[in-house]
Amino acid sequence: MANKPHLNIVFIGHVDHGKSTTVGRILLNTGNIRKEEVEKYREEAEAKGKATFEFAWVMDRLKEERERGVTIDIAHKRFDTNKYYFTIIDAPGHRDFVKNMITGTSQADGAVLVCSAAEGVQEQTKEHIFLARTLGVPQIIVAVNKMDREENKYSEARFKEIRNEVGSLLLGVGFKAEAVQDDTDSSRCFKDNKTGKFFKFSQILFVPISAYKDDNIDKKSPNMPWWKGPTLVEALDMFQVPPKLTDRPFRLPVQGVMNITGTGTVAVGRVETGSVKVGDKVIFMPSGKVGEVKSMEMHHEAIPVAEPGDNIGINVRGISKEDVKRGDVIGSVSSPPTVAKSFIAQIMILNHPSVITAGYKPVLHCHTAQVACEFTELLERVDSRTGKVEETNPKTLKTGDAAKVKMTPSKPLVIEKMKDFPPLGRFAIRDMGQTVAAGVVIEVEKKE
Ligand code: GTP
Ligand code: MG
Repeated sequence: MANKPHLNIVFIGHVDHGKSTTVGRILLNTGNIRKEEVEKYREEAEAKGKATFEFAWVMDRLKEERERGVTIDIAHKRFDTNKYYFTIIDAPGHRDFVKNMITGTSQADGAVLVCSAAEGVQEQTKEHIFLARTLGVPQIIVAVNKMDREENKYSEARFKEIRNEVGSLLLGVGFKAEAVQDDTDSSRCFKDNKTGKFFKFSQILFVPISAYKDDNIDKKSPNMPWWKGPTLVEALDMFQVPPKLTDRPFRLPVQGVMNITGTGTVAVGRVETGSVKVGDKVIFMPSGKVGEVKSMEMHHEAIPVAEPGDNIGINVRGISKEDVKRGDVIGSVSSPPTVAKSFIAQIMILNHPSVITAGYKPVLHCHTAQVACEFTELLERVDSRTGKVEETNPKTLKTGDAAKVKMTPSKPLVIEKMKDFPPLGRFAIRDMGQTVAAGVVIEVEKKE
């Protein structure tokens, strides 16, 4: 395990498009779970009136998830190829659980966007694409799933239709693509619906699959002889390891806290910047509690050092369950995580039914934290493509506007400048069950 590079991959997309099924199928085909386990789930699922959910149940372990047939919280699972070892993060697609999807996506080095060729692009397909971009996911595989369904019949034309639609959305939110002559390279090229022109992505790959029927997962499908591109597992191996932010001070946003018999309190999360080793003194913010790292583990193995990208459990001497919660950030004592009194951000308004004015106080989702924040000042309205200031101190902001604003958290929140700590400087703003805006932090006024 130590010698293979590690990548965190999040599975995103609209509810029921087959994310959990795809993850379950990959784990089975690559020998990371046993056939008997899936067989057992098949029988149990059928008995509970949830036939066809056997693969999803590999990831959906909560009682409520299985009863409702939806993923609610993110789940992690390890999986190996010859080249990499992956931590797969299965995110929920249902609109009520977008906050869990954001947590999963903020930890990802790459994403697999699952879009069903039966239902096509849906509301959370669009929302997740935008969030993936805002949260800085650098590379994406678009898995066009359910190619086996009656209405698709493994048709190349249907695949291209979905591919072009998703490609146009990805281009629209700012993923880089170059203009090309045609779409012969079907796994990277697409036709933009807006302009009718062809484009080629460098960091995005398309693959037609059926997770349930096992097409193009790790073996070329005889049902889609027209497909010349990679299988899904080959595409995962084509992901690149993003540069590690090892040169920055240590930061680990806490995703959860557990009490483990024999060990004590264990905070769980992903190292975003810097590194940490057993024996180091660390500080928990906003609480300011300090302690020495007693032990760390990753995938149930003890580790002496953790680096950016590692999903770890960390046990710190003198820190009890009451001292730490989701949304806290562990950092180095010499450069503690910044607790903001207020901050200035560059945002995009995505979706707001009326207008935003100063005083508006929605929930901000940043790394693993969720805190209500007030728009205290609307500083500038800017052109989202050129960055040119169009109006200073605007009275209101509406859907489609880009703006510079000052925000004030309603309770202590760790947030950093995007420039210094990219994963702790991006956020989404949600209200009324949808993502209202997303943005990046350009300045932080520290709370004393
Ligand atoms: P949420 O996590 O709740 O957002 O859903 P999900 O995207 O994880 O979908 P899930 O894997 O739970 O699958 C939903 C339904 O789609 C199940 O009935 C699956 O059997 C079915 N399904 C998934 N993939 C395929 C496929 O390739 N073909 C067909 N025909 N059905 C599929
Ligand atoms: Mg699911």
